[in-house]
Amino acid sequence: MTEYDAIILGAGGAGLMCAAVAAQRGRRVVVIDHAEEPGKKILISGGGRCNFTNTGTVAERYLSANRHFARSALDRYTPADFVAMVDRHGIAWHEKTLGQLFCDGSARQIVRMLLDASAGAALRLSTPVGEVAHADGRFAVAGCTAPALVIATGGPSIPKLGATGIAYDLARRFGLKVVEPRPALVPLTLPGKEALFRSLSGVATPVVARAGKAAFAEAALFTHRGLSGPAILQASSYWRRGEAVAIDFAPGEAPGWLAAAKRAKPRSTLAAALPVPARLGEALAERLGVSLLGEATDKALAEAERRLADWRFHPDGTEGFAKAEVTVGGIATDGLSSKTMEARRVPGLYAIGEAVDVTGWLGGYNFQWAWASGWAAGMAI
Ligand code: FDA
Repeated sequence: MTEYDAIILGAGGAGLMCAAVAAQRGRRVVVIDHAEEPGKKILISGGGRCNFTNTGTVAERYLSANRHFARSALDRYTPADFVAMVDRHGIAWHEKTLGQLFCDGSARQIVRMLLDASAGAALRLSTPVGEVAHADGRFAVAGCTAPALVIATGGPSIPKLGATGIAYDLARRFGLKVVEPRPALVPLTLPGKEALFRSLSGVATPVVARAGKAAFAEAALFTHRGLSGPAILQASSYWRRGEAVAIDFAPGEAPGWLAAAKRAKPRSTLAAALPVPARLGEALAERLGVSLLGEATDKALAEAERRLADWRFHPDGTEGFAKAEVTVGGIATDGLSSKTMEARRVPGLYAIGEAVDVTGWLGGYNFQWAWASGWAAGMAI
């Protein structure tokens, strides 16, 4: 048995950040991962350029059974702190849209930076976690023993990258609750009766997509299985089976815009008047039963406006963990300290990153949570 101050399970963003902070504080830490290389999700993130944070980070942009839990860590380790680290390592970056920051070069630079920063920590790759023993205030895993154990093994999204639900098994074993995990930031599938839209596979258009109380103004994309695109991925995190997703196909149009379009161009078709790609315009107009604007009554056009602003889709599911960017749910926050991420009833046990019931919006929020929660635990272990 090799003795350490802390054992970190998982060499993803959260685990590596935790290791870096703890090692720089002079703690002896080991990071254990069954993968053959660290940070696999970082490497494929943001189309290979890693959307590493979002300048709009606030706790309200995270889903959790306790909406306030993430605030403490997010306030203490901010996007500006991570940007300062990126700058110190000479990594060039740019803002894309909506506060999303990406590397100019490659996501590999972020992994390199985290490995350099955690150089003082031992890294054991290709190492299965196996049995976790706990006795006399010490944890023992894979030949290592320490008074602190950090669960940083993420959630089960994208199993082919090595993702597993081991965090939940460990949490339950130590008496922590787990909020039911669901795939999130995931395409939605449509049933056969909404097949008209499936024939539009590849068509994208700006919309406002609503699920539950959340609304997202971004692009939606029709796929051969249903709906995707950033607006839908965002809405999917809030969507519950059996509920509808409402789409506004004409966001920003003032009431009466179709009647005004009729007066300006009575010989235009409704399809051509819609602010969407032609194929989609035709499919929507066909469903609305309106052809030439000049032949439709103002009342019929007002009804068309109403339906276009609140088009209901009834997904029959999602594309599941195989395609989900993240997992909603996870280790319940009520058993953890929001300041240190330590389990309230099991001294020395910590949980960070996606393993915890804190899930961000699309656009760099999930990495910011990984960095912030990793930092919080790294300062405590
Ligand atoms: P993460 O999953 O990164 O790390 C967990 C580690 O634990 C892994 O190294 C894994 O091998 C290891 N592990 C798991 N089970 C184990 C076991 N049984 N034994 C041993 N080790 C085990 N977010 C964002 O903010 N911006 C973005 O651009 C993207 N892009 C993106 C693209 C794609 C395709 C995906 C799938 C996800 C994203 N994300 C994202 C989400 C982001 O990648 C995710 O939220 C973080 O990587 C979570 O970091 P963690 O360290 O918590 O888990």
